[in-house]
Amino acid sequence: MKENIKKFSTNPIRGMKDFYPSDLREVNFILTIVEEIAELYCYEEIEAPLLEPIEIFAAKSSNELVNEQSFIVEKKEGEKLILMPELTPSLARMIAKKSQEIKKPIRWFSNPTCYRYERPQKGRRRSFKQINFDILGQNNLYAELEIFNIVIDILTSFGATNEQFQIYYNNRRFIDAICEHALNVTRDQMPLVYKILDKSDKMEEKEFEKYVIDSFQNEFIVRGILKLKDANTIEELLQKFDDIPEKLYEAIGYKELVNLERLIEEAGLSDYCSFSSSVVRGLDYYTGIVFEVYDTGMENRRAIFGGGRYDDLLSLFSDEPLSGIGFGMGVLMLTLFLKTYDLIPKDFLLKDYSDTIYIASINDKVATYAIELARIVREESFPCIVDYRFKNLKSQLSKANELGVLISLIIGPKEMEQRKITVKNMSTEEQKTINLEDVIEEIYKVLDELEE
Ligand code: HAM
Repeated sequence: MKENIKKFSTNPIRGMKDFYPSDLREVNFILTIVEEIAELYCYEEIEAPLLEPIEIFAAKSSNELVNEQSFIVEKKEGEKLILMPELTPSLARMIAKKSQEIKKPIRWFSNPTCYRYERPQKGRRRSFKQINFDILGQNNLYAELEIFNIVIDILTSFGATNEQFQIYYNNRRFIDAICEHALNVTRDQMPLVYKILDKSDKMEEKEFEKYVIDSFQNEFIVRGILKLKDANTIEELLQKFDDIPEKLYEAIGYKELVNLERLIEEAGLSDYCSFSSSVVRGLDYYTGIVFEVYDTGMENRRAIFGGGRYDDLLSLFSDEPLSGIGFGMGVLMLTLFLKTYDLIPKDFLLKDYSDTIYIASINDKVATYAIELARIVREESFPCIVDYRFKNLKSQLSKANELGVLISLIIGPKEMEQRKITVKNMSTEEQKTINLEDVIEEIYKVLDELEE
């Protein structure tokens, strides 16, 4: 009688994902395209460790990320390590460590699995793959333009159009200038303005209003912050304020934004990019242009990409000033987006066995001959499966058919003795017995026949 032992759950931990072959096939389909773009723009791949000291995220990422969303490992008492919630501070650490040796500008991409203790929901998991592209040491708007071009090339390579996605951009320095010149918000209150604006599209209108009032309790500032929400052009935003002082138009944040808009237009990217006053991003280290990429339809409401310029993240590790800009793209959000517009070919989900050679044997006396044959076939770079059942030839061949194999090699004691093989074209059912040394030539012949 079987013992009644309680079995463990087969589910992964909540919010985590098992990647079965067809899931990974989908991810790899995406990665192949992204890697091609990385190659075209000369971004080199890096990998950072999964565990880092918590302090490097606590300093400049965000309180929410570190205090509420992190997975923490306590190696020994008092030494807290964090499971990578995002790549950027690790990337800054890696650059600071070898800054003298690394040639600038630095163009790096990476594909880490990140961990955040968030409520699992559509587009959000507690472990997720995030593709990053960053360029550092190129402190002008051409770097922003390059990053926008990469985003557009990635998405259009999958067949997406500007009607399906948009890059929404803003400038933290511009929001700073408005805070300073139009709202009289002090410098130390600015991070709170970013935090509020970052939440604006995640809240109902009334709830958002209450949040702003509770945060500032100053009617003038509250009215001003509510105006900062939802403007689709720089002019539209500025028109909401009664008397904008001349100083604002002289502010670097305003000038950068206007210049970026011009560059976008000159580069022919205007159809893909729009200003949005409510994009400010949730991470503390951003200092300049910030952006998020959204599905323009109603299906996917979360950002697919998020990124921006960070001027002094390296100051955590060294005194060298080095500015960077980049983005993180969630593979899960991208997959949801691509599926919405039917941009993932279905035939990618199943393994293709059409170039596989299947070896079927009459009995186990020929096992070593089958293995020798497989080695010859694989040396020619053909994928090869040996059916190790070594009986019931019919069932072996029907397995080959089920997989979609086009060529099977059949052997039995007679073939082994004479160093021969029977090659079967699974499509026409024709078969031919040949010498072992001619097997590769015969495989190519059958492949030619199959192509005709
Ligand atoms: P982020 O906005 O926190 O930015 O994340 C970027 C993207 O990662 C999001 O737009 C989303 O697609 C994906 N993502 C974030 N959290 C989750 C989650 N829980 N589940 C699934 N996907 C998620 C950063 O991480 C910055 N370090 C990006 C960056 C690179 N900035 C400059 N360089």
